[in-house]
Amino acid sequence: MLVVISVGGSILAKDLNPDSFISYANALSTLAKEHRLVVVTGGGVAARNYINVARSVGANEVVCDFIGIDVTRLNAQLLISALGNDAFPEPPRTYKDAGAALTSSKIVVMGGVIPGQTTDAVSAILAEYLNADLMLIATSVDGVYSADPTTDPDAIRFEKMTAKELVNVVMSTEMKAGSKSPVDPLAAKIIERCGIETIVMDGSDPTAVSDVIMQEGVESEPVKGLHRRTRITGTR
Ligand code: UTP
Repeated sequence: MLVVISVGGSILAKDLNPDSFISYANALSTLAKEHRLVVVTGGGVAARNYINVARSVGANEVVCDFIGIDVTRLNAQLLISALGNDAFPEPPRTYKDAGAALTSSKIVVMGGVIPGQTTDAVSAILAEYLNADLMLIATSVDGVYSADPTTDPDAIRFEKMTAKELVNVVMSTEMKAGSKSPVDPLAAKIIERCGIETIVMDGSDPTAVSDVIMQEGVESEPVKGLHRRTRITGTR
């Protein structure tokens, strides 16, 4: 299978601990023996800090986005360093370059590409462009909820949902001030458009992420309860 994995910066680069990069690299290297992988890294707290300073000194939002992209690429470079020879040596700067890098049979790791989006959208566009079999969003929550679970005690987690349901939930969550859904609206729309099978799960344990992908490779219906997640059913 060709799998696109979006790893949130809040997971990979939390506290900039080298162990997170090393444990992700180990899990990905093992997984790459069975599947072709493209990994998109987020910016995390460092991106937010840099963007806040940029705003304070008068940068406009496009400049802030460029700064965010640079930080996502730094995280990509750190993961590439941890992967060593298993990774394509440079984070591609465009979707087309990512496609070309994939022909190397190495793990391709990249960050953001253009202003106005997040790395979830990069992952979804890549998944569509590369005709990937599966997309996995490794984030700080264990799936997609009916409302923001940090503020709404009645929020329930979806075990399974359609892409259309995802779009509706994401839009209604994003409309509430301060709320943030685990999948950004553009990514949700692309997932709906291309019909790719997508999993949203807590990415803090990279072996859980690789377990879930390995299981997807052999089972059409995953065993319930192995790792909590939301599956957005594909249509292709
Ligand atoms: P992230 O994808 O990490 O954004 O990119 P996020 O969702 O805010 O972060 P997490 O999920 O909480 O870690 C960091 C920033 O980089 C810019 C955006 O400003 C984004 O907020 N960016 C990223 C782009 O402008 N374009 C891209 O293609 C990717």
